[in-house]
Amino acid sequence: MRKKIIAGNWKMNMTPSEAIALIETLKPLVQTDEADVVFCVPAIDIIPAVEAVKGTNIQIGAENMYFEEKGAFTGEISPAMLTDAGVKYVIIGHSERRQYFAETDETVNKKVKKAFEHGITPIICCGESLTQREQGVTIDFIRQQIKIAFLDVTADQAKTAVIAYEPIWAIGTGKVATTEQAEEVCKAIRACIGEIYDEATAEAVRIQYGGSVSAASAPELFAQKDIDGGLVGGAALKPDFGKIVNYK
Ligand code: 13P
Repeated sequence: MRKKIIAGNWKMNMTPSEAIALIETLKPLVQTDEADVVFCVPAIDIIPAVEAVKGTNIQIGAENMYFEEKGAFTGEISPAMLTDAGVKYVIIGHSERRQYFAETDETVNKKVKKAFEHGITPIICCGESLTQREQGVTIDFIRQQIKIAFLDVTADQAKTAVIAYEPIWAIGTGKVATTEQAEEVCKAIRACIGEIYDEATAEAVRIQYGGSVSAASAPELFAQKDIDGGLVGGAALKPDFGKIVNYK
């Protein structure tokens, strides 16, 4: 059985002092043995956040990472910087990074490989636009994103990966995908991993749904066969995140 993984994506919110205050609020609310709980925080919040979650079940993740080891890449954060700071997860290829910061399937693939090299678990994001959904090309598009993201990734690495299916039209809009829509795509993603690798890898990989997840929508979404948790934006900054983590 796959363990659920429920992650918050804080995006560009929370100063370091606000981050500590939020963690103190959420700490008692997100206790559980049934799911992995991850807070993906802005880079500048990572060090105080790692300190603040010591002794709890919360793991700290990053929202981005560069694919080179070190050097003249002003403004970027390397994988070694993240691991040294105590980071276990990194979000790769969020649609906002693709939209505003020109990330492509190719840079996503480079980052995914680099994260694995450093023992950081990538949370690999994919998701279609409203136009793509309306044109009926959602599954084809997602399969393309997944196939490129996993180029030259070994089966053993892929087994530990987390994939977040986030339909772009559902992000920050309050318009959550229906349970059927979310399960259909998550199932197709698992099948795609099965085609690239094998059945065992497909069964091991964890697939989250993301896009306007709330305390109200989480229970039904997370009960689906192929949905192993969520990547949560807005609701991860509120006490409601405790309800999402303890959704049962
Ligand atoms: P919202 O939950 O705010 O829609 O954001 C989803 C998201 O982008 C998580 O990565």
